[in-house]
This record gives sequence, C-alpha cells and structure tokens, in this order.
Amino acid sequence: MTRIAIPKETFKNESRVSATPETVKKFIDLGCEVVVEKGAGEGSSFKDDTYSEAGATIESTFAATVKDADIVLTVRAIEKDALKALPSGAIMIGQLNPYDNRELLNHYSQHNLSTLAMELLPRITRAQSMDVLSSQANLAGYRAVIEAAEVYGRAFPMMMTAAGTVPAARIFVMGAGVAGLQAIATARRMGAQVTATDVRPAAKEQVQSLGAKFIAVEDEEFKEAETAGGYAKSMSESYQKKQAELVADHITKQNIVITTALIPGKPAPRLITKDMIKTMPEGSVLVDLAVERGGNIGGAKAGEITHVHGSKIIGYTNLPSRIAATSSVLYAKNLYNFVSALWNKDKGFDGLPLDDELVKAMLLTHAGKIVHPGFKEDDEADKPASRSASDSNDADEEYAS
Ligand code: NAI
Repeated sequence: MTRIAIPKETFKNESRVSATPETVKKFIDLGCEVVVEKGAGEGSSFKDDTYSEAGATIESTFAATVKDADIVLTVRAIEKDALKALPSGAIMIGQLNPYDNRELLNHYSQHNLSTLAMELLPRITRAQSMDVLSSQANLAGYRAVIEAAEVYGRAFPMMMTAAGTVPAARIFVMGAGVAGLQAIATARRMGAQVTATDVRPAAKEQVQSLGAKFIAVEDEEFKEAETAGGYAKSMSESYQKKQAELVADHITKQNIVITTALIPGKPAPRLITKDMIKTMPEGSVLVDLAVERGGNIGGAKAGEITHVHGSKIIGYTNLPSRIAATSSVLYAKNLYNFVSALWNKDKGFDGLPLDDELVKAMLLTHAGKIVHPGFKEDDEADKPASRSASDSNDADEEYAS
C-alpha cells in the first residue's frame, strides 16, 4: 500500500499544510495509507481529530511521520538536517523553490530522493487543476488588498454622507498576472478606483474586463513582450526608462500601489523608486508582492513595513500563509490532483512515471542525481539569476531587471 506522509511545516511563519481532511480521504479512497504529523493542520484550522476521522494516522514526531513513506507531501522544501529521517528512494513533492535552494538539491540527490517542484509544473490545460502558482498567487493578490486596506486607515469606496463626501481610494496595480488580476478584482469589489499596468499586451483586455483602466507604454517592444509560455520577458533599458516616466507621472495621484511584477527565474524588475514615492499623496501605502525575488519597490524590506517619505511599504512575504485556511484547501487539492494523476489505471501507484511530461518538467533529483537540466551542477549556462529576499532593497538603482 502506498504510504503518504504529511509533515508539519517548519519554515518560519509557514501556516499552510499540504493535505486537508478532504484530500486525506481522497488518498485513502485511492488505496493509500496517510500519516499526518501532530499539529500539521493547526495553522490552517484543521485539528488532528478531523484528520483521524478522515482515516489518517497521527504521529507525534517528524521522524515517525515520514518513516517508510513512499511519498512525502510538503508546502516548503524539507531542510537538510531533517533529511536523514526520510527513507532512501522516497518521493518528495512540494514548492521546493529550486532557484533559491540549489545547495539543498545536492543533499536531496545524496539521500536518493526523487524530488518534484510544483512551481515547475507546465502551464498546460491538463495541469490547470494542479497549478499551485495560480492558486496561491490568486490568494496573495486578494490578501495584498486586505493588507493595504488595513494599513491605509481610510475607506476605499466613495461615500456620500450627510457629514460630507469621502473620495474613492485610487489604487494602481503593477503586473496583471494571476495575483495582479485578483488584486484588481478585489479592490474594485471594495469600491476603489483602479488602474493597472503590465508589459504583456494580453493583460490589457483582462484588466479592462475587470473594470479597471489599463496604462502602459504600448510600443513595438510591448507587442512582443510575452513569451510562448505566457510570461513576461525582461524589457530593454529604453523601455524601462519610458515605463518609469509614465509611472512617475501616474503615481503622483495614487493612494495605494500594489506591485506583482515577476519574470520567472530572474530578479524582479525595479518599477518604483524612492523618489517616485516622494511625490505620492500623504499616507499612501505600497505593497510589494515581489519582495522575495528582490522587489519591485525601492525601500521595500522582506517581512517588514518600511516608512519612506511619509508612505508605508508593506513587504510581507508569503501572503498565502496569511490566509492559510483557504490557501491550504486549494494547495492540497492541487497536490491531490497531481499525485492522483501519477496513478496507473490497472496497477495503481507503480513508481514515478518518468516519461510523463509533467514529471519530466518538475523532477529535480532522482536515483542519486540532480536530473533537471536547469539545475545540474555542470550546466552553468542554464542557471537563471536569482536575487534573494535577504538582499537589501534600499538603493534606488537604475530600473534594472
Ligand atoms: P508572474 O507571476 O510571472 O508575473 C506577474 C506579472 O508581472 C505578469 O503579468 C508579468 O507580465 C508582469 N510583469 C513582468 N515584468 C513587468 C514589468 N516590467 N512591468 C509590468 N509588469 C510586469 O505571472 P503569472 O501571474 O504567473 O502569469 C503569467 C501568465 O501565465 C499570464 O499570462 C497568465 O494568464 C498565464 N497563466 C496560464 C495558466 C495556464 O495556462 N494554465 C495558469 C496561470 C497563468
């Protein structure tokens, strides 16, 4: 019988969990045995009893939970020191963040683990129900607006009262991917006046369909800024300059700015400088959702609220964890949808299907080796640049990406 382990997350401030009582039951229906570490669901409001009722065994330590596991489901990468408890040959599936965890990949291969990064799932139709980047970014976009509303300390909608009229808050969303589009929708629902920008032309119609105004430098480069995979390219210096001029002018009238701009495997593009913030209305609030990848906003600090020229910049990391009860439900379903797709119709779970296109794209380590072409030690050319959350974001650099 396939044994699935659900350890309690140990990463700082990580409240999510990789399985819910609902997905535990589904795994059991598939014929699995599920072991959940005591307290694993606490941060997401799932009690141990509910997991037991769904059919899981509860173990009180990490070592007992992962003992003899065939598959270990996680939210974050399991750290080096905990690896010795994992059985050789086990499969670990989670958001393993391979770009920032290169060193850890060596340990995974040394421990003969087969590791799969959910972030590397191809964005193809078949995999939509497994897409953790979308499910979590969507909630991060929602939460970013809630965080901004709390710190802003003023109302979002226009209110006409006997005591006077309160103007609507003006919100500018930069980067209209999954997180940005949800931020736009949420801010609109809350009554704000919303504008948004992106470098991908496809974003224009999506922004407008949500009732927000689209603002961008729409030149020849903009027309070609989307890769075949639907992501943004790094923009040229001259585009960045034009974009900065547009933003510098627009931002002077914005009360709240939410930035979500990312380029896969690259540092986040710097979009807002401290000088721009100086021109914003008093008491304005900025939220930098890209802070963990170097940040879109000068002066943003990972995990903190910073004060710059009378404005507050929210640099909270891991926003999905700040809405953990919901994000865990979606994350756990994504994982279940992926794992159950590894099942063979006749034989049930028969080891990793190595020729499956999803597995091929996501497999980092296998049979004692780093196997992913983007992360192999000897493959320097393929290595994407990365800027970590700990890097200072203080300097008002050029609009380098
Ligand atoms: P992301 O998280 O990589 O980036 C966020 C946004 O920032 C993107 O819209 C990007 O164009 C924008 N951006 C990058 N550089 C910028 C700059 N200098 N200025 C302004 N904006 C900038 O993107 P996300 O949210 O993952 O979505 C990327 C694409 O993938 C979208 O087209 C989305 O529709 C598509 N997608 C496809 C799925 C599927 O087919 N299953 C699932 C989810 C998303």
